[in-house]
Amino acid sequence: MTASPANAPAAPIKAIAFDAYATLFDVYCMERLAEDYFPGQGRALTTLWRQKQVEYTRVRTMSSQFKTFWEVTRDALIYAARALQQPMSDSQRQHLMNQYACLRPFPENLATLEALVAMDIPLAILSNGTAPMLDIAVKFNGMKDLFQHILSADTVRKFKTSPEVYQLAVDAFHLPAEEILFVSSNAWDACAGTWFGFHTFWVNRSDQPAEELDIAPHASGRELSDVLAYVQGLYG
Ligand code: LAC
Repeated sequence: MTASPANAPAAPIKAIAFDAYATLFDVYCMERLAEDYFPGQGRALTTLWRQKQVEYTRVRTMSSQFKTFWEVTRDALIYAARALQQPMSDSQRQHLMNQYACLRPFPENLATLEALVAMDIPLAILSNGTAPMLDIAVKFNGMKDLFQHILSADTVRKFKTSPEVYQLAVDAFHLPAEEILFVSSNAWDACAGTWFGFHTFWVNRSDQPAEELDIAPHASGRELSDVLAYVQGLYG
């Protein structure tokens, strides 16, 4: 784990907001089902699907053409199959989408979240995902009682990295941004959260290079459990 205490807000962390997709829930675990349907292309499809999904959230937000994250996710899947020249039936598409609704968390996540709750730190999810998508995912994974707030970009009809989305956590917790630790495994999300004013932690699961955005998350690690170690370190 690395941290930059010199740059981190001096204010204590009083709440934590987590990104959902790729941070709490493993979007790449779709690969097996994708591989069954499109032999030899499972990884490529899953990777392109995620890239397009994020790209479409940005294009739609910049052009004020909001569509829910569920619809954007379906559109990105259709594009990915088309780009890889893989014919996809309606039932295959539906099955992949249904599995997306029930993504599994990374192995260390549940224990990490429970340990943070045991420290009496209020937790939230702050995500582009729709409220029903997030609700199903937390229920499916036994996480429902761990979060005080499940905050969806739907509410403001814009996606990250719009400040209006990050503001949802400030409003829900009634805390200034610098007293909220925002955790994301998407470097761009962690950087934008830092711009917004959050104390930020980047879970860099796949050893990605740092972004070149004139800003960096305050701390980073490889797994969600590193967030726990970071917070315990700050609490002394
Ligand atoms: C989310 C995407 C960005 O959950 O991972 O908001």
